[in-house]
Amino acid sequence: MQSEKPGSKTVSGDLWWQKGIIYEVYIRSFNDSNGDGIGDLKGLTEKLDYLHDLGIDCVWVTPFYQSPMKDFGYDISDFKSVDKMFGTMKDFDELLHETHKRGMKLILDQVPNHTSDQHEWFKEARSSRDNPKRDWFIWADADAEGNPPNNWLAMFGGSAWEWDEKTEQFYYHAFLKEQPDLNWRNPEVQEAVLEEMRFWLDKGVDGFRVDVMWHLIKDEYFRDNPDNPDYKEEQPTYNQLQPVYSTDQPEVHDIIEKMRDLTDSYPERVLIGEIYLPIHQLVSYYGPDNQGAQLPFNFQLLTLPWEPKKIAIAIDQYEGALPNSGWPNWVIGNHDQSRLATKVGEAQARVAAMLLLTLRGTPTLYYGDEIGMQDVKIPKNEMQDPQGLHMPDKDLSRDPFRSPMPWNDSANAGFTTGKPWLRMAKNIDKLNVQAQQEDPDSLLALYKKLIALRRQEPALHKGRYRPVYSDDKLIAYLRETDEKRFLIVLNLSDKGRQFAPERFKFKGKVILSLLPDHENETVENEIRMKGDEGLIIELE
Ligand code: GLC
Repeated sequence: MQSEKPGSKTVSGDLWWQKGIIYEVYIRSFNDSNGDGIGDLKGLTEKLDYLHDLGIDCVWVTPFYQSPMKDFGYDISDFKSVDKMFGTMKDFDELLHETHKRGMKLILDQVPNHTSDQHEWFKEARSSRDNPKRDWFIWADADAEGNPPNNWLAMFGGSAWEWDEKTEQFYYHAFLKEQPDLNWRNPEVQEAVLEEMRFWLDKGVDGFRVDVMWHLIKDEYFRDNPDNPDYKEEQPTYNQLQPVYSTDQPEVHDIIEKMRDLTDSYPERVLIGEIYLPIHQLVSYYGPDNQGAQLPFNFQLLTLPWEPKKIAIAIDQYEGALPNSGWPNWVIGNHDQSRLATKVGEAQARVAAMLLLTLRGTPTLYYGDEIGMQDVKIPKNEMQDPQGLHMPDKDLSRDPFRSPMPWNDSANAGFTTGKPWLRMAKNIDKLNVQAQQEDPDSLLALYKKLIALRRQEPALHKGRYRPVYSDDKLIAYLRETDEKRFLIVLNLSDKGRQFAPERFKFKGKVILSLLPDHENETVENEIRMKGDEGLIIELE
């Protein structure tokens, strides 16, 4: 058995990143300590007690490195630094120290696919064709008519190829033209980025969330991507093609394995991959022999419509597709997607919390989901997100999902003493952390209860998952160890429905319910489920 070595391949469910809960902090919007209107590292350190009290095990902090901020920090000009906007390296060291002091973990956002065009590497690369760093990025000649070498599109609109006047070649950028893609086929690039990861690992960070992992390697022949017959006008222009040659190339797994070898050379580190792919492709990122990412992010709860049948099928297909020793995970929100509470509404946000925290696999929350933050409408003239600005005729700005965290009912909800960098919600005087801390029926209180229960019960954090029933309103499943069994019944609609599955007989006590009607009740073989109801039942 290899399961005892660092970075273990076990499915025991006992490692911190298996039984723990991850919480994404979008650093700009979490808490501002110096009044410049932008969240920072010190601000996050000030709120660690809040996260600890919530029951979080691991904080994932979005990029705080030196950056021209064209893509709000995902355009890094020096990975081994802290941007002044977010504080100093001393602030970082303190954040790490204080996180560990509370028994929590800290993971960083790593952006290996591209740099900023202001990064020294790219400045050198574009200085001349024979610069030693030229091949660190992806260059191509124009065709006979002066056009880019192929039809590849950028995620933020337009061609993915930008003409470099001085050296008369195109360079490839999967995102903004200010975010040139690194050439991961070059071993020097591999070594340089791994060395940067080592810098943070040596400081003691507990792992990385690897940005756009499925983009790292592109087809070496630059073949044209085929058309996407399912393209819809409201989608990003990127979706006009199917990115079969510009993403998800087989060689990407060799790169991930190298990253994993590195993180595995330190005890209990975790490698998480940001990957938007269908399930059967996603699970390949666990890697052959599980030497890939330990947690290829599973975004199905974010991307699927909130329909019980679809969700029940997705859960079962995902469980079925996982490789033998692959550990599952579920994500409820992130800084690129519409807020869950906006998608499903206030009442269903409670059902979603129960689902997330009773499914098998590591849950990831996005800051503010625990208080039911909603998307905040940002007027066009205040739009900041490059994705929205570059495709202005479509509704693609991610600003609404990044609005600052409301902490209390003071000015700017206690987020900043200055002017928040992005508009805050209108109802922050009511919807804020403090108000929910004082209300035993709040969503925050529910999250705390669910997290505490999950932590306390091995059946919930590492037990088996077994589907029981689903229809057009309900989803029911079991979480069990040999010692204990929990039946979870969720109503994903606002209409009542009898739960009385023919082939599943049960008897037990309701230990947590979303509505007051079934609290502490003993139930047997049938339950009248109200709309928006969710129950955790401990079976006899
Ligand atoms: C990832 C990030 C997103 C960013 C993009 C480019 O998808 O989550 O915010 O814009 O990568 O780095």
